[in-house]
Amino acid sequence: MQVGVFCPIGNNGWLISKNSPQYKPTFELNKEVVLSAEKYGFDFALSMIKLRGFGGETEFWDYNLESFTLMSGLAAVTSKIKIFATSATLVMPPAIVARMAVTLDSISNGRFGLNVVTGWQRPEYSQMGLWPGDEFFGKRYQYLSEYVHVLKDLWRTGTSDFKGDFFKMDDCQVKPTPSKELSIICAGQSDAGLEFSAKYATYNFVFGKGFNTPTAFAPINDRLKVYTDQTGRNVATLALFMVIAAETNEEAMEKWTSYNEGADLDAIAWLQDQGSKDKTSGADTNIRSMTSSVSPVNINMGTLVGSFEKVAGMLDEIAEVKGTEGILLTFDDFIQGVNDFGEKIQPLMKSRIHVDSPVASKVKDVKEDATV
Ligand SMILES: Cc1cc2nc3c(=O)[nH]c(=O)nc-3n(C[C@H](O)[C@H](O)[C@H](O)COP(=O)(O)O)c2cc1C
Repeated sequence: MQVGVFCPIGNNGWLISKNSPQYKPTFELNKEVVLSAEKYGFDFALSMIKLRGFGGETEFWDYNLESFTLMSGLAAVTSKIKIFATSATLVMPPAIVARMAVTLDSISNGRFGLNVVTGWQRPEYSQMGLWPGDEFFGKRYQYLSEYVHVLKDLWRTGTSDFKGDFFKMDDCQVKPTPSKELSIICAGQSDAGLEFSAKYATYNFVFGKGFNTPTAFAPINDRLKVYTDQTGRNVATLALFMVIAAETNEEAMEKWTSYNEGADLDAIAWLQDQGSKDKTSGADTNIRSMTSSVSPVNINMGTLVGSFEKVAGMLDEIAEVKGTEGILLTFDDFIQGVNDFGEKIQPLMKSRIHVDSPVASKVKDVKEDATV
């Protein structure tokens, strides 16, 4: 199973709390996190694009770096880990993004893949006068399909003459073409999003669900399979989870309780209001579930809290969910979290026995001892 890190490109990571570690995003922070992840054999690093934060006392996500430029810097200082940047497709024309991706393919020596998002939060775009109107909510994946069509034309042949409803290319040229076919990654959860991924994506990110319920997201893999059965493509799920770990279950729970007690209610209220704006996407989009109150302090992300051993066990359970090829991790404290994962969690995971890490796998040692 693959493991990736969701780079802390925005302030305070994914915890909307006054009691969680408070920090601003910097290149140095992300470099330290990703170099450490690479050292411990993480397979990929992804950064999102976020153009407007939620405010509140913690000014949640009011501070965000830009995805491509951050990942370019990280590509230059790493050598093995795969590098995924996110395109804000509404405001970044495909011919520009095709060229940026080719540049990143070159900087990373073939380690680059592109995450494409439609955008779901109107103020990110309306603040620049670039929101196409609320009817866009219902056409998001038609737009994205045309966008990717242009990208693929340009990457495969260096030119595009595509004429669609949203894009009209006129002998558009982007050269050089990439060293190999670049992976498209998406995070569709709605039917339209899953259908898109089944047609175009190599990987589809899904939101892990619930508290210490590692396999609760499994039904979305079944929903994706309905579409991949139609397209005949293999699209693997990468599931997003937050890990809050410590030596003991009690210590880990203490942290989680404290983060919840410090929830920044104003920032959460803003998020919930934004999540309710999309009235046309269909009830299946998970954006509306972001407005639920299961665990708003971390945007209702699937959450794994416990001792290193317990978390290792839960991560192994995720690996067993059919159709899942990897996990995308966030942490309360990214530097400590990646380090603890590499030193204390991964060595206990059956699904990571194959990993080339400076820390020997304890699962493997036990197995080998048993055969002596
Ligand atoms: C791992 C992951 C990364 C995402 N990155 C972004 C992002 O950078 N920008 C963004 O606007 N939305 C992002 N999203 C939201 C998705 O693009 C998508 O809109 C959401 O999962 C809802 O699915 P739907 O579009 O099919 O309704 C991300 C979601 C996930 C799970």
